[in-house]
Amino acid sequence: MSKQDLLDRLNKLKEEKRAVILAHNYQVKEVQEAADYCGDSFELSRLAADSPAEVIVFCGVHFMAESAAILSPDKTVLLPERAAGCPLADMIDPEGLHTLIRAHPRAAVASYINSAAEIKAMSDICVTSANAVEVVDSLEQEEVIFVPDQNLARFVSNKTDKKIIPWPGYCITHHRVSAEDVLRARENHPDAVIIVHPECRPEVVELADQALGTGGMIDFARRSEQEKFIVGTEMGMLHRLERECPDKQFYLLSPGLICPNMKYTTLTKVVNSLENMEHRITVPPEIREKAARALQRMLAVNASSLEIRSR
Ligand code: 13P
Repeated sequence: MSKQDLLDRLNKLKEEKRAVILAHNYQVKEVQEAADYCGDSFELSRLAADSPAEVIVFCGVHFMAESAAILSPDKTVLLPERAAGCPLADMIDPEGLHTLIRAHPRAAVASYINSAAEIKAMSDICVTSANAVEVVDSLEQEEVIFVPDQNLARFVSNKTDKKIIPWPGYCITHHRVSAEDVLRARENHPDAVIIVHPECRPEVVELADQALGTGGMIDFARRSEQEKFIVGTEMGMLHRLERECPDKQFYLLSPGLICPNMKYTTLTKVVNSLENMEHRITVPPEIREKAARALQRMLAVNASSLEIRSR
């Protein structure tokens, strides 16, 4: 089927099934272009909670679709590629978190949205890269267990007075970026601004000009008077930035910045997903209710700070 045939089919199916297509900023170009909304983890979880659609096709990875299913139990949530997971989310299990909670009984538990429903269900609140500092500061406890990303935990601990107790997880894509990559980019492009994701190592964040979640990167590039940006996050982000800021130039910080899981989803799989109503993501009610509390608390902290961007 040609690309146009696929898009026509998708539009017809969307209408028939009252569906909305959400795509993370790391998705491939053709999927971003076919989506109703593109966004970061926070924006997409908000859209999933508020959308009047009956079916949500989530073009991203499993924890994102699972968060949508937690927030919208009455909707059908589909993940076009069943194998699209998140190695970072898999780096913590309930047993490990229990051990940490037992060792720090007075601490609040903040879990990154890049975690499984069981971990969210054990948490007081969730965070995304867009709101982690604000959410941690909103907690009344002085100690905060922060799982599973050690780099985001360090980023937050540098910006808050709270004591952060991290878990040693990391994103296999962002953790690969080295200080040398930043120094080399600075030398090759002295006129560019270097923006990196806070999932990068602390020394990378330290050397960059800005550390921002993917939504923050778009806002920053839009508002900045600079024209050239070196981008230290997953390569799909370049497409989103180029679309939002067509008069500016964006370069990837290092060639390894590719998340294989984000690349599994293709336009054909999105169409098939809606056609066959697969793969349905569901969460058992006893876990869902607790996880929804943690996600809703996060959304309440950020209730006023969202600017939804449609394509
Ligand atoms: P954002 O919330 O910044 O889009 O990040 C999502 C993610 O999974 C980063 O690896």
